[in-house]
Parts: sequence; structure tokens; C-alpha cells
Amino acid sequence: MIRYGSAVSAFVLTVLAASCSHKGESAILPKPTAFGAAVVESSGGKQLAQTGSLLPQPVVVQVNDEQGAAVTGALVEFAAAPGVGFDPPDGLTDSSGQVTTNVSLAGMAGRYQITAFTFDKSHKRLELKLEEIALGYQETLGRRLNDQYCDRCHNSESTVERVSNYDNLEVKPHPFTEGDTLNKISNTDLTAIITNGGPALQKSALMPAWGNTLSKTDIQALIAYIRAVSDPPSRSAGPTYARR
Ligand code: HEC
Repeated sequence: MIRYGSAVSAFVLTVLAASCSHKGESAILPKPTAFGAAVVESSGGKQLAQTGSLLPQPVVVQVNDEQGAAVTGALVEFAAAPGVGFDPPDGLTDSSGQVTTNVSLAGMAGRYQITAFTFDKSHKRLELKLEEIALGYQETLGRRLNDQYCDRCHNSESTVERVSNYDNLEVKPHPFTEGDTLNKISNTDLTAIITNGGPALQKSALMPAWGNTLSKTDIQALIAYIRAVSDPPSRSAGPTYARR
């Protein structure tokens, strides 16, 4: 009985595996009616999302001809590291030369490289690479604290929920994405300035002290967030996952 059962399940597994790989290798792609000379980003690069979740905005790419005019009917395919999902994974460019896809990031924190590719008339592959950032648990906590306490001064743009205070500050703080500045500050110094305020690093007292408001765990989470979003990436930003 056991032998019979396992033989059946082995058979089922083989059939499932066969049908899966079949689908993967020979997925039917839409047939292009036109070919472009370049694939460019329209929107959707450099977004943040929690690991395993959907990016807030879709990724939109455009195929152009030699003159930079939009091409309708060109085939665009999307690829990334295993675990990254695209809905849809491919498509023909619409009347504005664009293909839109919703992207869900895989389960590991880090940067994900997304490739969009198409082919020109001579079957040469044309590629566009975008990068998206998946935040782990600690970094997501840091992001929430940033939205709550820091963004109003460190981000010069106002949103519906939050009016920016940036323009009122005599000394200008840096956005945390500004890697050229933030990457040069050690974790120890970040902890010091966040805990004790600007004067801890001989900087302006317009940067308040947070040591009474935030716990050590909170401050570590903020630092993890700052390291995760910096551009260029910090040395402790972790790996970039690309298509194998
Ligand atoms: C009331 C406005 C204000 C708030 C809120 C604020 N900061 Fe600042 N921050 C500043 C200013 C101004 C500076 C620049 C000080 C200087 O260069 O002398 C600064 C500097 C910094 C720096 C040094 C790098 C840089 O931008 O120059 C770090 C790191 C920092 N802040 C982290 C934080 C964190 C984390 C929070 C939230 C917990 C926060 N700040 C909230 C105003 C603010």
C-alpha cells in the first residue's frame, strides 16, 4: 500500500514537474508587429516595498524607434531573480509605445535588478535595467519611524499627509537617499547624531535629539533604513539580486 501510494505520488510529481517546465520554456509570447531601437524607463524604478510584496506603482517602459518616437506593437519581456513576479511578464507596446507591469519583490531584503528587453529589426536584444529595493522587517520599521519623525525635515517635498518643514530650515538636512553624504557617516556617528542631536557631531541644533523619544531598537531600525535606501548604495546595503 505504501509502495503503491508513493509510486502514485511520484508519478503525479513527475507530471506536475513536466507540465511546469513545459509552461516555463515554451510560454506562448504575443507576436510583435513592430520593432524598436531602444527600450527606456517611463516610470517605476527605484521604488521601496516590503519583502514579498507588490511595488506601490507599476513599472512602465517604452519602446522607441531611431528618432525617439514611440513604437506600437513591439514585444517587451520582463525578467528578474527567482521569486520576483511580473503581472504580466510580457506584452506588446500600446499606442503610446508602452508596456505596464505590476511587480512583486521576492522574500529577501536587498536590491532587485529588473530587466526589460525587446529585440530590434535585426533580432539584436535591447535591454533596460531598473533597480527596486525590498525592505526587511527592521528596515520597514525604520521607514515607518522616518515617515513619522524625520521626513518632514529631511524631505523637501510636501505630501497630502505631511507639510515639509525643509524650506524653513536655515541649515539644510540631506535626504536619506543621498548616499554621497550618508555613506560617509559611520553607524556610531549616526547613532550619536540621532540620539543626541546635531551638536553631537558639531552640526546644527536644528537637528533635534531623539534619545528621549526613540528606543535604541528604533534608532537601529532607522539606521538600517538609511543604509537600505542610499544611492549610491552603502557598503552595508546587502546584495543586489539579478537574473541568473
Ligand atoms: C526639525 C527638523 C529635523 C527633524 C525632524 C529631523 N532632522 Fe535630522 N537634521 C536636521 C538638520 C537641519 C540637519 C543638518 C545639520 C547640519 O548639517 O548642521 C540634520 C542632520 C541629520 C543627519 C546628518 C546627515 C545630514 O542630513 O546632514 C542625520 C543622520 C539625521 N539628521 C537623522 C535624522 C533622523 C533619523 C531623524 C528622525 C528621527 C531626523 N534627523 C529628524 C533637521 C531635522
